[in-house]
Amino acid sequence: MNQPSFNPKQIISLLNLLIVAVLLLLMASGGLIASLMIKPAKLPAVAATPSTAKKTIQPASAKSSTLWEAPLESSLPAGSKGEMIRYGKELIAHTSLYLGPKGKVAQISNGLNCQNCHLQAGTKPFGNNYGGVASTYPQVRARSGRETSIAGRVNGCFERSLNGRPLKEDSKEMQAIVAYIKWLGQDVEKGKKPEGAGLVTLAYLDEPANPAAGKLLYEQKCVVCHMENGAGLANGDGTEYVYPPLWGAHSYNQGAGLYRLSKFAGYIKANMPFGATYDSPQLSDEEAWHIAAYVNSLPRPSKDLSKDWPDISKKPIDHPFGPYTDGFEEEQHKYGPFKPIEEKRRGQAVSN
Ligand code: HEC
Ligand code: HEC
Repeated sequence: MNQPSFNPKQIISLLNLLIVAVLLLLMASGGLIASLMIKPAKLPAVAATPSTAKKTIQPASAKSSTLWEAPLESSLPAGSKGEMIRYGKELIAHTSLYLGPKGKVAQISNGLNCQNCHLQAGTKPFGNNYGGVASTYPQVRARSGRETSIAGRVNGCFERSLNGRPLKEDSKEMQAIVAYIKWLGQDVEKGKKPEGAGLVTLAYLDEPANPAAGKLLYEQKCVVCHMENGAGLANGDGTEYVYPPLWGAHSYNQGAGLYRLSKFAGYIKANMPFGATYDSPQLSDEEAWHIAAYVNSLPRPSKDLSKDWPDISKKPIDHPFGPYTDGFEEEQHKYGPFKPIEEKRRGQAVSN
């Protein structure tokens, strides 16, 4: 019984000492570790052509510190309210698991996740985030000609971007999604769209965007993930995409936001190839427009759009379905050049 032995308490305090020592070491070298870790994560997955890529999208005055940021998870309210918000976030990130073709709650959408287009669950700067939604809805939208709530706008994406059916507004899933979007935007002043919300807007090209040029770029920069036939890649059990489809039967339909060239080009400029960011883009503006033209020249589901834009003079310049009041053809409304349309409309607005 004289053998030296540690009692459990001594062992625990020794372990504590050890843990504290390791933590201190980690903290001391934290700067180094962080810099080692962040760099590879920021590298584009595909070799980029920085020679043509513009360095930044924002004017130099817009520092990243002024961009909208999501509230911290730690500020989530307790109890059932917090749980609904968490569930909403989960539905944005893994929509297909719950509501896709094999969804465990309902089968009402095409397999895309909201997060495929609203990156990082709708929080990434210029990643089509939701920072300006709670502050600007309900709003009267020209597309429907009616006042639209957050739930109505969410269903717009279900019916178009997810080529599916709407969620019931009083369903638990819709309430959760709306609770999450409201929580994200809770600190934004009513009526304001914060800097960094939504997408970047690219300047129009002087010539039409060119699908043939876009095809070559697609093969260099996108094909590794989104595949030659644009169908992407599903996970092993087919419940979610690893790489979502860009055209074909399982992609967004012709009524979706991304079917407009300016939205597609703005989305990929700040976000694709995967890993690109607004302050470290991998595509020049021109490349983004051409790739947008290629992808949106390929087949995809259609949608009855006859009730859209009840006031046809309010159709966006790049809405590719007539009739129009400006006299330009559908072809030019789809691929550009957009500047002449913009100028003519400005003239019309003045003379009206
Ligand atoms: C295929 C891409 C895509 C998918 C998937 C998608 N959306 Fe969208 N969403 C868009 C685009 C593009 C816009 C328009 C952005 C703009 O005009 O700046 C948009 C706009 C929105 C808006 C309005 C944003 C604003 O600031 O006015 C909301 C809210 C929204 N989506 C919610 C959802 C939800 C919820 C889902 C999943 C059920 C979803 N979206 C899935 C592409 C997508
Ligand atoms: C390294 C793989 C990779 C490459 C390369 C890549 N993407 Fe993506 N892309 C993704 C992933 C992953 C997502 C979904 C992001 C998420 O859910 O967080 C995505 C989403 C998208 C979306 C929105 C969702 C959809 O399916 O409509 C579009 C549009 C898109 N990519 C276009 C492009 C284009 C154009 C290129 C080439 C310039 C490109 N991507 C290159 C991985 C990639």
